[in-house]
Amino acid sequence: MRSCYPTPVYSHAGRGSFQDVYDPAEDSFLLIDALEKDAERLLHMSCTDVNPAAAQCTARTASCNRVSLQPVITDLVESLLPRLCGKVDVLLFNPPYVVTPSEEVGSRGIEAAWAGGERGREVTDRFLPLVAQLLSSEGLCYLITIAENNPEEIMGLLRQNGLEGESCLSTRAGNERLSVLRFHRNQQT
Ligand SMILES: C[S@@+](CC[C@H](N)C(=O)[O-])C[C@H]1O[C@@H](n2cnc3c(N)ncnc32)[C@H](O)[C@@H]1O
Repeated sequence: MRSCYPTPVYSHAGRGSFQDVYDPAEDSFLLIDALEKDAERLLHMSCTDVNPAAAQCTARTASCNRVSLQPVITDLVESLLPRLCGKVDVLLFNPPYVVTPSEEVGSRGIEAAWAGGERGREVTDRFLPLVAQLLSSEGLCYLITIAENNPEEIMGLLRQNGLEGESCLSTRAGNERLSVLRFHRNQQT
């Protein structure tokens, strides 16, 4: 895909005082590529992270790229509920999706960037019920998965909540088959 947006400045991530923060990689850039056609919807964004250093790093990234953004340190969207229910036009999550022992899930440090527990789904599965709660009537949700997460099953679970999904972009990165799942409300429900 040919991009019409410049790659954001992010050279501070993953080094120096932000060494315990995920260094943007193929998954991050795949998500950016998937978002390009909905870029005009991305006017007022909030973001959250459970890792305080990641939230500070995101604030630095925003200021380097002249974007107004105040990251919130919280688990998923806990501290933003119920305020945001039904009001989110674009919901993004690049979760910790790597298959790991369950004991590795729940860190607030760099391990939170990848440790997904059983099937790499333990954090994603807590996020899924929030999608239907948060999205506005025309809202879209973008979620990164790998094949081990069973994207088809995720789409089936969200279908039960009135959301239709598709894999809108995929790539192979090393051993990972990365996909961006894109969900919207089923207008017939
Ligand atoms: C794969 S990294 C993605 C980082 C960045 N968003 C990107 O796309 O490059 C996953 C991020 O999710 C955060 N995270 C993990 N569990 C979380 C949770 N329960 N609530 C909020 N953020 C979480 C991690 O700290 C990490 O910054």
